Amino acid sequence: MLSPPDSTRQDELERLTRELNSALERVCEVEAEREAVLGSSLDCIIVMDEEGIVREWNPAAEHTFGWSREEAVGRRLGSLIVPEELRQRHEEGLARAASTGESRIMGQRLRLPALRKDGSTFTAEIAITKLERGGRTFFTGTLRDLTEIVEAEEQKAAAEMRYRSLIENIPLVTYMNQVEAPFTSIYMSPQVESLLGYTPEEWAAQPALARDGIHPDDRDRVRSLAREAREHSIPTRSEFRFIARDGRVVWVLDQTIPVRDDAGKTVCHQGFLLDITEQKQLEEQLRQSQKMEAVGQLAGGIAHDFNNMLTAITGYAELLAYSFDEGDPRADDVEHVRKAAAHAAVLTRQLLAFSRKQVLLPKRLDVNEVVRGLESMLARTLGGEVELTTSFAETLAPVETDPDQLVQVVLNMALNGRDAMPAGGRLTIATSDVQRECEPFVCVEVTDTGTGMDEAVRSRVFEPFFTTKDTGKGTGLGLATAYGFVSQSGGRIEIESAPDQGSTFRVLLPAAA
Ligand SMILES: Nc1ncnc2c1ncn2[C@@H]1O[C@H](COP(=O)(O)OP(=O)(O)OP(=O)(O)O)[C@@H](O)[C@H]1O
Ligand SMILES: [Mg+2]
Repeated sequence: MLSPPDSTRQDELERLTRELNSALERVCEVEAEREAVLGSSLDCIIVMDEEGIVREWNPAAEHTFGWSREEAVGRRLGSLIVPEELRQRHEEGLARAASTGESRIMGQRLRLPALRKDGSTFTAEIAITKLERGGRTFFTGTLRDLTEIVEAEEQKAAAEMRYRSLIENIPLVTYMNQVEAPFTSIYMSPQVESLLGYTPEEWAAQPALARDGIHPDDRDRVRSLAREAREHSIPTRSEFRFIARDGRVVWVLDQTIPVRDDAGKTVCHQGFLLDITEQKQLEEQLRQSQKMEAVGQLAGGIAHDFNNMLTAITGYAELLAYSFDEGDPRADDVEHVRKAAAHAAVLTRQLLAFSRKQVLLPKRLDVNEVVRGLESMLARTLGGEVELTTSFAETLAPVETDPDQLVQVVLNMALNGRDAMPAGGRLTIATSDVQRECEPFVCVEVTDTGTGMDEAVRSRVFEPFFTTKDTGKGTGLGLATAYGFVSQSGGRIEIESAPDQGSTFRVLLPAAA
């Protein structure tokens, strides 16, 4: 066997030494790189073997957990960073991963509580991956402290809660509508359900709701305003009626503003709906009572002057009648003048009654007795087609009022009921004690099953000379005088009526102490 010459052996040795050195250098470089990567990572990098023993622990882990690398490496990870209550689950998971090679938490980002050396805990985001090396399994965990993020999230959630609670509890509906389809809501606060009967989801799903729910008389006005708001991107404010799901008419104040993006383009319309039904009703009542007041003053003034002239006419007519001889045919003419003047005097009295300038003769009386006294006369007057029913409260507070006037009021209401039932029907008169705003009243209620009234008629029934009856059939003074008398007595009249639904008139007189 030939052995290489010494010089060749020497070369070989040198070559091997060089290779070994450069390999060692590479190892050092790799090691330095690894150190650099581990050291510069902001995240904690922890390597654990399949027994759960820490094999690597980078500076970020030292900083985050408070354990130095020397302290950590070689110890069970569970006892270092897993809070007491989760330790058993950690060990079980580890055992499962070791025997089956599977783990439920592998390859995901999880939020878990983690333990520091000083015993405090914090929320960490953890991602675990598996590493096979030299026939052994290791687990690498990347972990980061989420305390600040969690705090920020909690603050954001709390702020959102505050806004949500504000938006959902103020007594108005807030909304956001699309620009292109102004009646389609992007957002509608939940109060809308109690206001109009439809849920926010229904508004979003059915744009037709908002468009068609508007009262027919207000629809064109609201639509053209919405069109203008869209075309010119301007704020709007309008009041209109809306028909709620249950048929109620709800008055709303609707105010919107366009919302623009940074480039000035309108992206949606924001607004609110406020229930102003009660305010509208009060305004209407005020308008009505101001009108009645004005008409009352006018009627009262005329009736007063007119009455003076009638007194003169009657007086002179009587003087003239005396001056005639017995059997003078002109006496008849004078009698006509006197009768006409007497008739006119009745009218002026009614007008004075309406304007609450009537002389009343109040007495303490039992309303049941007054109505009972009317019963047989009414039964005769109403005729066979109208069935009269009465219902008397067993006990009734006394009232202090003028009985003759009360009879006139009930009589007129009964006759109005009869006139509203040309084909017959039922007229009911009932008495009861009632309360209004905690005050006691005695109530006489006259109900018919007749034609009923629409809003236009209902709002005018107390006006003097307002009648829907043919000339000669009604003067339109019945309810006007009733109104004057009842108001003058400190009471009020309530009406419930709708077309084809009959009418109920309620006379409320204050109960006497
Ligand atoms: N029960 C009723 N049903 C339907 N409409 C009614 C009823 N009561 C009153 N009205 C309406 O109110 C109007 C005014 O009634 P009011 O009693 O003041 O006058 P009138 O009955 O027309 O005439 P008058 O009573 O002076 O003879 C009536 O013409 C009618 O249109
Ligand atoms: Mg009448």
